[in-house]
Amino acid sequence: MRILVTGGAGFIGSAVVRLAVSRGHHVINMDALTYAACQDNVASVADSPLYAFEHADIRDRVALDRVFTKHNPDVVMHLAAESHVDRSIDGPGDFIETNITGTYNMLEAARSYWMGAGKPETFRFHHISTDEVFGSLGETGLFTEDTPYDPRSPYSASKASSDHLVRAWHETYGLPVVLTNCSNNYGPFHFPEKLVPVVILRALAGEEIPVYGKGENIRDWLYVEDHADALLLVVEKGTLGRCYNIGGENEARNIDLVRTICSVLDKKRPKDTPYADLITFVSDRPGHDMRYAIDPTRIRDELGWRPSVTVEQGLEKTVQWYLDNEKWWRALQNRDGVGKRLGAG
Ligand SMILES: NC(=O)c1ccc[n+]([C@@H]2O[C@H](COP(=O)([O-])OP(=O)(O)OC[C@H]3O[C@@H](n4cnc5c(N)ncnc54)[C@H](O)[C@@H]3O)[C@@H](O)[C@H]2O)c1
Repeated sequence: MRILVTGGAGFIGSAVVRLAVSRGHHVINMDALTYAACQDNVASVADSPLYAFEHADIRDRVALDRVFTKHNPDVVMHLAAESHVDRSIDGPGDFIETNITGTYNMLEAARSYWMGAGKPETFRFHHISTDEVFGSLGETGLFTEDTPYDPRSPYSASKASSDHLVRAWHETYGLPVVLTNCSNNYGPFHFPEKLVPVVILRALAGEEIPVYGKGENIRDWLYVEDHADALLLVVEKGTLGRCYNIGGENEARNIDLVRTICSVLDKKRPKDTPYADLITFVSDRPGHDMRYAIDPTRIRDELGWRPSVTVEQGLEKTVQWYLDNEKWWRALQNRDGVGKRLGAG
């Protein structure tokens, strides 16, 4: 398959690129290389004859038409987005432009290409989204594919808007789409502004580990390589027009996740005092959703997908990866906003 991946120099996109190339697919990685991108994320495949890179912005429709015409993809996996909730609180404009207008451009470029190619039945536009579009759960219940949308941050509202556009392009124009909504990812190459790498890197530096509010917010954690595996399965075997929720069935309170990371570090990089002593509670994120949890029944029953690791196993691998790849994360720590408190309201 020839796969056009958008956002393939980011965290999840690069996992998709690496996995797809390792499985023998041709990959065209199209990325604007924003602050969140890192070409080293795809260094392991950069010299492969199966890999090509296009520096292009999804807000630039002319550039998109050029990439489609040049590379003739069989399918599109659309991951490019502004992805950090805290940044969306400080500056929502970029989220509207990239996540909504950019997705609109991608849909129009894909539609024009697909029609020009005689509407091949095998073409797919796979839109990658988040469980945050469903809003916040109480103490019980799970997000299913039928849960009504109730986004509550500029980030999740922009992703919800893009999901609606993708469905509309399917219903109105017949564009062959599939959608996925996934829970929180963690793993190698996670940009050092997100919770898991922040905890690891603050702990290693002997600095306070900030936990928002009382750390009681619950997320459903999924190892990024398991997500990439699920995405390739959906783009190949998913039913047209259908959405699939993806989650690890690994619910954890933030504070418990942080403590688990600290105890992994206590084993792998012991020091005189436990890393958990560095945990510090800080003011909460405005509108911080309390609980997300995914019901993955559909993707499991229809496509046979299951995550390969538990959150404990995934965190062991992740912590080890950060210990082994200091050069990678050091280079990103100078980027704008990294290490600062963002989105405090
Ligand atoms: N991180 C998570 O836990 C999570 C969970 C569920 C869904 N998602 C979704 O998965 C996708 C990828 O998330 P991520 O965590 O890898 O994000 P990321 O921020 O690590 O990477 C985003 C990539 O998109 C690129 N990009 C941004 N704006 C662009 C533009 N205008 N044109 C072209 N490229 C642009 C960036 O350069 C970067 O390489 C997003 O759509 C996100 O909403 C993320």
